[in-house]
Amino acid sequence: MRTQVAIIGAGPAGLLLSHLLALGGVDSVVVETRSEDYVAARIRAGILEHSSVELLEAAGLGARLRAEGDHHRGIYLQWPGERHHLDFVDLVGRGVWVYGQTEVQKDLIAARAADGQEIHYEVSDVELHDVDGDRPSVTFVDRAGRRMRIEADAIAGCDGSFGPSRAAVPAAETFERVYPYSWFGILADVAPSTDELIYAWHPDGFALHSMRSATVSRLYLQVPNGTDPQSWSDDRIWTELATRLGHGENGWKLTPGPITDRSVLPMRSHVRTPMRHGSLYLAGDAAHIVPPTGAKGLNLAIADVALLSKALIAQLKEGNPVLADRYSDDAQRRVWRCTHFSWWMTTMLHTSGEAFDAQLQLSQLRWVAKSQAGATGLAENYAGLPIGY
Ligand code: FAD
Ligand code: DHB
Repeated sequence: MRTQVAIIGAGPAGLLLSHLLALGGVDSVVVETRSEDYVAARIRAGILEHSSVELLEAAGLGARLRAEGDHHRGIYLQWPGERHHLDFVDLVGRGVWVYGQTEVQKDLIAARAADGQEIHYEVSDVELHDVDGDRPSVTFVDRAGRRMRIEADAIAGCDGSFGPSRAAVPAAETFERVYPYSWFGILADVAPSTDELIYAWHPDGFALHSMRSATVSRLYLQVPNGTDPQSWSDDRIWTELATRLGHGENGWKLTPGPITDRSVLPMRSHVRTPMRHGSLYLAGDAAHIVPPTGAKGLNLAIADVALLSKALIAQLKEGNPVLADRYSDDAQRRVWRCTHFSWWMTTMLHTSGEAFDAQLQLSQLRWVAKSQAGATGLAENYAGLPIGY
């Protein structure tokens, strides 16, 4: 097969890239190890920044998001006895949208199918070749067991943190921070007990009340690394959430309901640089991982491919390599801003067991919640900086 861009991975980065390239008149072929149903059902992120929503709308992907997504003006920040609302719209003029990654993924799959995009699902043995030159290729075995080769002008590695693309950038520098705790996430068939997200500091550990719709709640608990999600009873999960989220304080109540999904997510930061080697470009989780506390993972993947699509269109349609040459530096500015913000939110909200740390965290939380300057810093980063920051 011959195409302009061979895209490895049909997650949000890979599918949005193929969509933006098609809008710019550049062809691509996508390969994905999982099935279409599997990638559409994976429960992951839930918050879209203002600029992610603008980009999806400009790309014609905003109809269902506008109709079914939920615009939030801000978040609640709390610690025992106190809950404060931070109104991002008042503070920085923009809010966020609650719209699950599963929904973004379904919209992307539908848009690419309507466009006749070539996507090979359930492939195996994906390998990258000749990325040093300008005639790279990708080989794989398709679902029917046939050995295939895609010849391309460029390869986009959008294959997440376990795919082969990241290893194809030789001499990349890696920066990493592993956190000593994980998130236990549940999805529950119950109306959210809050109108906007609650981020809660508690001596027993962090808790987050998020949501997916008027009838589906998404909640998270800080747990020790290695926690087996099956070892917790439903009752234990809801009791722990009620304690940490302040059930009974100032008349607020957490309503429990049937748990439909549960998983434990280890927390780490990981940045690889550069994000380009020859004709291979990395985007999304293939290049960086953030701990989820700042809700940045999906938004960073969207911001990467916004830059990468422009760079590849300029290079492949107009022969202009300037943006492609700058891609890694341009993308990394935002990556490090989000990496810092995610680290800052994580260390402010998760308990370490050290009494000194707890007092610093409470002092910082009071300052962020009560000072206009502190609140504005959180709001600006959470609601998201403009693409290209
Ligand atoms: P992915 O979504 O990982 O997509 C990569 C794709 O590449 C996958 O479909 C994979 O199957 C495919 N692939 C892998 N190997 C190959 C191969 N060899 N060949 C072809 N294809 C391959 N972020 C938040 O902001 N908030 C959250 O609450 C949150 N929760 C998360 C929970 C989990 C369990 C995980 C894993 C991530 C979570 N994230 C969260 C992060 C967020 O989901 C990611 O940042 C986002 O999915 C990045 O998109 P991506 O397209 O770069 O990578
Ligand atoms: C969700 C995930 C996050 O990491 C976060 O910070 C907020 C919300 C969610 O899954 O809804």
